[in-house]
Amino acid sequence: MKNIATKNPWVAPVIVRHSSSGMNKFGGVRDAQFRDEIAGVSIAELVEKYGSPLFVLSEEHLRQSVRRINRAFTTRYAKVRQAWSYKTNYINAVSAILHQEGCDAEVVSEFEYDKARRLGVPASRIFFNGPYKSRGALTKAVSEGARIHVDHLDELALLEEVAAELNILNFPITIRLNFDTGFAENWGRFGFNLENGQAMEAARRIAASPNLKLTGLHNHIGTFITDPRAYTAQVGIMINFMNNVEAATDCTITTLDIGGGFASRNAMQGVYLPPEQITPTAEQYAEAICGALAIGLKDREQNGKPLPELVLETGRAVVDEAEWLISSVVANKRLPTGQRAMVLDAGVNILFTAFWYNHEVRPARPVEGIPEDTVLYGPLCMNIDVVRQSVSLPPLKTGDLLSFWPVGAYNNTQWMQFIQLRPAVVMVRQNGQVDVVRRAETLDDVEEPENLPIDLQPDFS
Ligand SMILES: Cc1ncc(COP(=O)(O)O)c(C=O)c1O
Repeated sequence: MKNIATKNPWVAPVIVRHSSSGMNKFGGVRDAQFRDEIAGVSIAELVEKYGSPLFVLSEEHLRQSVRRINRAFTTRYAKVRQAWSYKTNYINAVSAILHQEGCDAEVVSEFEYDKARRLGVPASRIFFNGPYKSRGALTKAVSEGARIHVDHLDELALLEEVAAELNILNFPITIRLNFDTGFAENWGRFGFNLENGQAMEAARRIAASPNLKLTGLHNHIGTFITDPRAYTAQVGIMINFMNNVEAATDCTITTLDIGGGFASRNAMQGVYLPPEQITPTAEQYAEAICGALAIGLKDREQNGKPLPELVLETGRAVVDEAEWLISSVVANKRLPTGQRAMVLDAGVNILFTAFWYNHEVRPARPVEGIPEDTVLYGPLCMNIDVVRQSVSLPPLKTGDLLSFWPVGAYNNTQWMQFIQLRPAVVMVRQNGQVDVVRRAETLDDVEEPENLPIDLQPDFS
């Protein structure tokens, strides 16, 4: 008779859809269903040394990504600048690498402006966007010679005052435009509208000011734009406006800044096709944009006007795929609905993009067993803390590690310290060495700005 102690524990039966291996319906083969390393470094060893959860950046991925975008554009257009969109990920090591690769900085607040300056970026290489720039911020940016993008008429008036106070004449500025490309919803809350004449009105106002001069046009059509034709339309509209504004106000436009918005290989929720099917390559974006520039600007130099520089403020597409989040399984559960659930040690407080994207989730070791539909919860005592509503995963034990990818865009800036301390961010360097680029937070970090009035000190004696 079999010894009862050696029997396997009873496991509830589940029905799973049969999925055969090999080609998927698009002809591709899904890669291995686990990931045990990042840029050649073992995930298990990373967690052992730096804890869990853990953000892991790859220097190699980051450099290759920005170089590819740069190459795609500089081989198609003569004057290109990439301005790193700080808000996407302003960890100093990330920004520093991108500046080493030749990027300028694109900032949207005084805090980001100061951050870029502290990192050594000259003001003349900072593009200052955003709907709120205080008088103090504008005074600093104008006196240091930053490239200011005006968002609205009140800001324009303030900027005029600031330049006048500083006795500066003809300070070069850019206006942010908004308009309908016919492809993406117009982000009409930013900048001056083109269709209703606001943008031309702003240009006339600048032309009448002795302190300011209009030299640039900016537009950002939105984020995760998967149709490159949106950029063809954008560039065409901007060139058309450039010609009109130059004719109407006698200015010369030397910069066309087309913002950011290129998609990464992340899976947007609600989109049927997988990222490898819908995410355009850098070359496809470049072809759409530089093709429109070639058509729109073909007579420009003959007409005695300079070829404008093209500025890209690409954020997501530069950094998203260069970072992973490692998280540990804390518990397995069966919900009243019958669905399998896992509790992880990483929640939406550090993985903000889980609200919009279905990240690729991989166990850190090959796992035997039948995959089952699983909901992944974070550690927050909040119902909204769902890092993945539904993902097919094999049985995992507590302590098992999962990697989430791509997570480089908008998580390390939008994360919040809520209930939990924020974890460390490490970077696998090109030589294989691992550097901590942001250490894990401590209770002291959180309490450092606080002040407890002496009479409020609790006394439990
Ligand atoms: C003005 C501006 N430029 C650039 C970006 C970067 O966009 P993305 O990350 O989609 O490339 C943003 C993001 O919202 C933005 O507001």
